[in-house]
Amino acid sequence: MIVEVGGGTGGGTRAVLDALAASPGALPSRYLFTDVSRRFLERAAAELGPGRPWFETALYDAERPAEENGLGPGVADVVVATNMLHAAADLPAALRELGRLLKPGGRLVVNELIANQDFGTLVFGLTDGWWRGAGAPERLPHGPLVGVDGWRALLAAAGYSDIRVIDLAGRRADGQAGDRRHRAG
Ligand SMILES: C[S@@+](CC[C@H](N)C(=O)[O-])C[C@H]1O[C@@H](n2cnc3c(N)ncnc32)[C@H](O)[C@@H]1O
Repeated sequence: MIVEVGGGTGGGTRAVLDALAASPGALPSRYLFTDVSRRFLERAAAELGPGRPWFETALYDAERPAEENGLGPGVADVVVATNMLHAAADLPAALRELGRLLKPGGRLVVNELIANQDFGTLVFGLTDGWWRGAGAPERLPHGPLVGVDGWRALLAAAGYSDIRVIDLAGRRADGQAGDRRHRAG
C-alpha cells in the first residue's frame, strides 16, 4: 500500500499516479490519499478516484500517532509526502510517526523545496501554515524549509537509512528535489 500524506490539491499525487500508470505492474493494491483537512479528500476522491478502484482517501494528521488516525503502524510499503513536511511544527516527531507507518524495508519519499526562493516566500508566506515550523533549529533562515544537510541529519536521527537526495531528473540534487529514503528494516 502507498500512503500519501498532506495530499492537498493533488499536485504531487498526479505525478505519482502518472508514474505508476507508466510502469506496467507497478499499480498498488491500495493508494491511500490523506490530508489533515477533509475538504481535500472529497476533491481528490471526485477528481482522482474514478477509474482507480484502488484509490482511497482518509483523514490523517502527520503530527499525531498513527493509531490516533485509525491507521495501524507498519501498514505502508511507501509513504509519499510532497511539499507537506515543512508545514509540521515538530518535524522530527512527524518523521518518526511516518516511519512507524512503514513496513520494515518500506520507503519514505519526500519531495520538498530545499532552498529559499523569493517567489515561494512571497506566495506561500501569505498563509499562516508556512510559518509554523520557521525558527526551529533544523530550518533554513527566513522560513520553514530544510536544506539537504538538515534533511540528512533529521532522517538519520529519526531512524531512516540509505538516504538519497535526487532532483526531478533523477540526479543528485541541489535545487528542488525529491528525496528518496529507505526505512531501516
Ligand atoms: C503546500 S500543501 C501541498 C499539497 C500537495 N501535496 C501538493 O504538493 O500539491 C500542504 C498540505 O499539507 C497538509 N498538511 C499540513 N499539515 C499537515 C499535517 N500535520 N498532517 C497532514 N497533512 C498536513 C495541508 O492541509 C496541505 O494540503
